[in-house]
Amino acid sequence: MIKLFKSWRKKANAPEAMATDLDNIPKHVAIIMDGNGRWARKLGLPRIVGHRNGMKAVKRATMAADELGISVLTLYAFSTENWKRPKEEVDYLMSLPQEFLALELEELIEKNVQVRMMGHTDELPSHTFAAMEEAMERTKQNTGLILNFALNYGSHREITETVRGIAEKVKTGDLSPEDITEQLLGSSLLSGDLPDPDLLIRTGGELRLSNFMLWQTAYSELWFTDLYWPEFGRAQLVEAVSEYQRRTRRYGGLS
Ligand code: IPE
Ligand code: IPE
Ligand code: MG
Repeated sequence: MIKLFKSWRKKANAPEAMATDLDNIPKHVAIIMDGNGRWARKLGLPRIVGHRNGMKAVKRATMAADELGISVLTLYAFSTENWKRPKEEVDYLMSLPQEFLALELEELIEKNVQVRMMGHTDELPSHTFAAMEEAMERTKQNTGLILNFALNYGSHREITETVRGIAEKVKTGDLSPEDITEQLLGSSLLSGDLPDPDLLIRTGGELRLSNFMLWQTAYSELWFTDLYWPEFGRAQLVEAVSEYQRRTRRYGGLS
């Protein structure tokens, strides 16, 4: 059944007032938030101003995902390769979780959002990890939207470490090689207890995955936009979801 998303019903001429099927909302939406630097350059501003404005887009995307009834929103915030950037940019990126949570954690708690993190925590500065840990601890009983930050995340590393963990169990005799199934590998990944992304969004115009959830996106629907991440908001999320709803997912079978 096609309905207009309720809060946009009154703004029938607004671009975001698109038909959205509330019975076919993707459970898990993952976003590669790209283009902060280019957005800033376009305005003649330093890259970090782009990251700061990217934080505002995180808020808009989170609120819109919550209102649409999406269950999991995974946001690619920092890759295992992003350490290659200049130290001052990395330092700024590592200060953003703290800044974001200082501004938004109370509202996230009010909205019943559960904050999570997916990535290699051991290399994060202690202040970054502490901010994430506090948010995770304070929201762990929440039952609403799961807001999952991919922070110091890289798919190759995730898969490698998962396989190594499984190999250790085979070595100690806790597992036999026949126990290694797609199910076991998938559920042993950092995202193991989450459904695979139904919809993967990338902003910023690049058409690549940049080491993001390579296993989990095997059958995700992909949606790209040339808009830079600081320009992303509710209207773009609705547009992506509407496009998702027009796709036929076949998983290799016939429709
Ligand atoms: C995305 O924006 C944020 C991170 C990767 C941390 P970029 O910083 O990659 O912005 P561009 O791609 O250089 O414009
Ligand atoms: C991907 O963006 C990583 C994040 C959005 C965190 P990048 O800007 O790092 O990707 P490449 O270098 O263009 O592939
Ligand atoms: Mg980029």
